[in-house]
Amino acid sequence: MLCDNISRGSDGALYFAGQSVNALADRYGTPLYLMDEDRIRQNCRMYLSAFRASFGEDALPLYASKAAAFRRMYRIMAEEGMGVDAVSPGEIRTALSAGFPAEKIYYHGDGKTEADIRFALENGVGCFVVDNGDELISLSEAAARGVRQKVLLRITPGIDPHTYHAINTGAVDVKFGVPVETGQAMEFVRAALHMPRLDVAGLHCHVGSMVFDEDVFLRTVDLMVGFMADVRDELGFVFRELDLGGGYGVRYTDDDPAADIPARIGEVSSRLRKRLEEASLPMPRFLLEPGRSIVADAGMTVYTVCSVKRIPGYKSYVITDGGMTDNPRYCLYGATYTVLHAAPRGRLRAIFDLAGRCCESGDIIQPAISLPAATARGDRIAVCTTGAYNYSMASNYNRFGRPPVVMLRGGESYLAVKRESVEDVLALDL
Ligand code: LLP
Repeated sequence: MLCDNISRGSDGALYFAGQSVNALADRYGTPLYLMDEDRIRQNCRMYLSAFRASFGEDALPLYASKAAAFRRMYRIMAEEGMGVDAVSPGEIRTALSAGFPAEKIYYHGDGKTEADIRFALENGVGCFVVDNGDELISLSEAAARGVRQKVLLRITPGIDPHTYHAINTGAVDVKFGVPVETGQAMEFVRAALHMPRLDVAGLHCHVGSMVFDEDVFLRTVDLMVGFMADVRDELGFVFRELDLGGGYGVRYTDDDPAADIPARIGEVSSRLRKRLEEASLPMPRFLLEPGRSIVADAGMTVYTVCSVKRIPGYKSYVITDGGMTDNPRYCLYGATYTVLHAAPRGRLRAIFDLAGRCCESGDIIQPAISLPAATARGDRIAVCTTGAYNYSMASNYNRFGRPPVVMLRGGESYLAVKRESVEDVLALDL
């Protein structure tokens, strides 16, 4: 199986985190997001122990909560001792309402409004990751006299991570951060250092998501340390934190490689130590912002088949009660997924496009997948590895409500996010 929390019973029935997928679908209805809480915690511990081993007690993995943001998730992160990367007042409020400590929130985003900045300051958010010069000025003006707001400065090292264009964030011409290559990053740092209300703690960069190529992170280390040395030489300033963002890839299908994250972190650590030593710079506090690799393999989405359509000589569709509203990733990125029948019957298999029920022919969850030829209305279909960027990117297109999130823990299940009803959606209409 793709991941060790997915298994089949002797009758072929599908289990996730040791629980019957059909039984969960009967109990909670479909479409349904399942989240394996034990796996989320294991993934956090994997990062925490790799960080301790490679960088010492001080280093902190920040869960990039855009991957899956709801109250219970922030509670788990607080319990595991993780930090959090939040990108909006909505994520910050959700974290705070779950009792997540404000000082462990790193506040990202390239378009913070005055109101956003005020909100985060008033709520004691630990660190702003400042994206650009306009934000720097607004933040410095808004920060209270006498209190120095800790900031990281986001720079763009100019690295192509060879991932989908839409999630390539490290190249020079992207909308995030301030580029090193053009000389603007140096001016950004200079400006920040002249702002007495800002405590410039360190640098941030994020080169992309779904990255498997280890060389990307090693080259990022080289560039960042090079820039840190340039800042020391030109401005006489030494950073005390370094945040290399998120990005480790996960396995969506058997064709994807398995990333050995602790080994990768070990390699980053060795390279960083080497480069810092060459530049005679001290070791900064090390931060990463993993999102996908914390939650993706903890997720599964379950659908009920609404119809099976066979178009002889062309193709066949399995049409489900979900679609691009709960998983827009194939539509957006051509993302691949592993699709499993929850209770397969018969030996014969056939190729189908797994479609949703939105009024749009592009509403495909995954094309050309193999399922039992006998697949019929009422059957349950599971899409694996949907823990990251599925619930968090869901929409109300066609006025479908978002599915609930059910957590699986130690053989039990509980509701973490309720199903969104049409009444919930209607509540905003005047
Ligand atoms: N830090 C920053 C500044 C980021 O922009 C991101 C992701 C992360 C951390 C977490 O990266 P991860 O470890 O999850 O790769 N919606 C897309 C992914 C967009 C990623 C955006 N930024 C998808 O569904 O594939």
